[in-house]
Amino acid sequence: MHRLRLYFSITLLTLAALASDTPFAQEPMADVSSGKALYDTFQCWQCHGYEGQGGRSGPRLVPSSYPYVVFNQVVRYTNLMPAYSPNELSDAQLKKIYEFVQSLPKPSALEDVSKLKFD
Ligand code: HEC
Repeated sequence: MHRLRLYFSITLLTLAALASDTPFAQEPMADVSSGKALYDTFQCWQCHGYEGQGGRSGPRLVPSSYPYVVFNQVVRYTNLMPAYSPNELSDAQLKKIYEFVQSLPKPSALEDVSKLKFD
């Protein structure tokens, strides 16, 4: 019985250690689920992909160093992309989409992609 309890404690400690390595444990993320829903509803994914990875009709959105004001201006006043007016997509909704896009995982650096290593 004691041994079982010991194993249980070790498992718990291991899980706690693993959990503390995740970025969520260090920096609590805002809830971006509503931003994701808006990204889907307003069809951003059609051209930019579900992970902001880009596609045939729209460039990659991740990683982006745009502050929100720039992101907002790009979505409101654009050339090749359909412009979204505040009547259609409010600033509050766009802010949520921005937070969702910021939360998407960044792509690996090219030197870290094993399939691109030829040595
Ligand atoms: C019909 C396709 C399409 C849809 C839908 C679309 N975009 Fe775009 N988006 C584009 C294209 C094309 C560009 C490049 C615009 C240019 O260079 O003038 C772009 C550019 C952008 C950029 C700037 C990227 C950069 O690196 O400069 C952002 C940010 C962006 N879109 C966000 C969004 C968001 C948020 C939505 C949904 C609310 C959305 N887009 C919906 C096609 C689209």
